[in-house]
Amino acid sequence: MFLYLRCEVDHDKLANMQITLFSSKSYDESFFSTENETSRHELVFHEFKLTPTSAPLAKGSRAVCAFVNDRLDRETLEVLHAGGTEFVALRCAGFNNVDLQTAHELGMKVVRVPSYSPYAVAEHTLGLLLALNRRLYRAYNRVREGNFSLQGLVGFDIHGLTVGIIGTGTIGEKVVCLFNGFGCKVLCYDVHENEAVKALGAKYVPLDELFAQSDVISLHCPLLESTYHLIDAAALEQMKPGVTLLNTSRGALIDTSAVIKCLKSGRVGNLGIDVYEEEDNLFFEDQSGMVMQDDVFARLLTFPNVLITGHQAFFTSNALTQIARVTLQNLSDLEASGCCENEIEFS
Ligand code: NAI
Repeated sequence: MFLYLRCEVDHDKLANMQITLFSSKSYDESFFSTENETSRHELVFHEFKLTPTSAPLAKGSRAVCAFVNDRLDRETLEVLHAGGTEFVALRCAGFNNVDLQTAHELGMKVVRVPSYSPYAVAEHTLGLLLALNRRLYRAYNRVREGNFSLQGLVGFDIHGLTVGIIGTGTIGEKVVCLFNGFGCKVLCYDVHENEAVKALGAKYVPLDELFAQSDVISLHCPLLESTYHLIDAAALEQMKPGVTLLNTSRGALIDTSAVIKCLKSGRVGNLGIDVYEEEDNLFFEDQSGMVMQDDVFARLLTFPNVLITGHQAFFTSNALTQIARVTLQNLSDLEASGCCENEIEFS
């Protein structure tokens, strides 16, 4: 269980603490350094991931800043705590990689950026569908090689399709808007219904109905114990033959091996993913010169109807600016008042 805290903060207090950023790339350094001109914290950037082994390098930093594939399990948090770290600032929305119970036991506060650009993720989701449907990735390569054959490039109209959206929070709501614009019938499933989504004309239905009726299914719920392998063999069995699956949320929402079986049989007609359940061993690094060790991922790459991007749905300059700004503000708030509206507390 977790809950989001709301509290009053003094935004005028001058903040200045050491923050160690893990998994940071040159673009993180650039956007954080620019935004830090007003926050004036001391930033230490490390390219490598946060693990129990790298955690001692944050010794003396009051805060660490971590990303989606950093490991904030009990072991890591204990090392950080022993080194004097009090605050964990996630520069992302999801927090499935944090052991919140341990953070709570150690008195460490965990903050996140709940929303930075829902449009970025929603638009990327549509991008995956458009590219998959019209095989744009194949067409691009063909034309560059002087092959103008249209064989194998037949697509389908998106207009008029039934689209199932699972998770209608900040991002899901924007995805509903986009599919509305295409003239689709939108079905939704969420544990909490969103009135704004209903106002757009979308209809909430039970999950089995969404599975049975949708031509396209797009996942926008968080990864929780209850949503782990939400798309498993049993769920796939209920779907329309030839269904298109899209996942820009978290990889482990999908049982990849079960989907591979259905791609082979044709039950799944297209798969567009920006996330993968074992992505922490792959994504965000240039591994082009290395032998692929993940056989499941390697099998996915063999399908002509699978399109994979490496967790880049969020990756716009708008989102990176907002991520840096909110992360630094979260930590300034914690320093000033011990409280932050973007804190996630275990309860
Ligand atoms: P949000 O918290 O605004 O919305 C999530 C929605 O999922 C909520 O409406 C919630 O009620 C619903 N939900 C919770 N449990 C559910 C269940 N069992 N079944 C159906 N719905 C359930 O989160 P937001 O900002 O819309 O983000 C959604 C997900 O997108 C995040 O959790 C994150 O994993 C992912 N994400 C991916 C990015 C990328 O670059 N690929 C970037 C940002 C977020």
